[in-house]
Amino acid sequence: MDETLVEHWDEQSANWIAWVRRPGFDSYWTYREDFFALVPAPGFATLDFGCGEGRVSRDLVHRGHRVTAFDGSAGMVEAAREADPEGTYLVADAAALPFDDDSFDLVVAYNVLMDVDDVEAAVGEAARVLMPGGRLCLSITHPITNPGERDSPYLESTRFSEAVVRDGLPMVFGGWSHPLSHYTGALEKAGLLIEALREPAWKDAPTPYHLWLRARLA
Ligand SMILES: C[S@@+](CC[C@H](N)C(=O)[O-])C[C@H]1O[C@@H](n2cnc3c(N)ncnc32)[C@H](O)[C@@H]1O
Repeated sequence: MDETLVEHWDEQSANWIAWVRRPGFDSYWTYREDFFALVPAPGFATLDFGCGEGRVSRDLVHRGHRVTAFDGSAGMVEAAREADPEGTYLVADAAALPFDDDSFDLVVAYNVLMDVDDVEAAVGEAARVLMPGGRLCLSITHPITNPGERDSPYLESTRFSEAVVRDGLPMVFGGWSHPLSHYTGALEKAGLLIEALREPAWKDAPTPYHLWLRARLA
């Protein structure tokens, strides 16, 4: 696959917007209250890291956070701006953020890190823009789903592209299947200490679908 993941998500932006904005359709509608229980109270400044069409930003603003948001896809950012004209939404690369060191006390990366080309660079940038003691809260697709869903060896990092049509909505999901240690290794290297981990149940599935972490910059 030659295209970057930002190119992939930009091409999919219209499908993604229809997917996530259909009420009750995507798992975020089920999960968001429990995920936000892991997110610290509003503080100085919050960064929505890989904001997509902006649903997490809008929910953070609703909860009192002062939010700056970015995504690599211009199509996603345009939709986020349309939905929230007062908000601050930038087109930027997770691996080279246009923010000074120590700019935020909270970074929220909801279902982004399995969709970036370079996890270590993205987590390094999240840590760089965090103040000491600041938090990174993230959700990823649980790596335990990799072998079954993607037919890939658990310990290998494998790029995937998966076309789905559900209830008439088409979507091509693109990203990486990484083992858990790929993410925790990036946190460790960036000086981010895990202080909370959740494996929320997904309906009556035998294994969790998402993994949530809160990490603190030492
Ligand atoms: C599954 S979507 C999640 C979007 C949003 N957080 C949400 O939950 O609705 C993943 C997002 O990561 C973005 N992304 C992937 N690689 C990126 C990069 N290198 N820099 C910035 N954004 C990136 C994609 O454009 C896409 O919008």
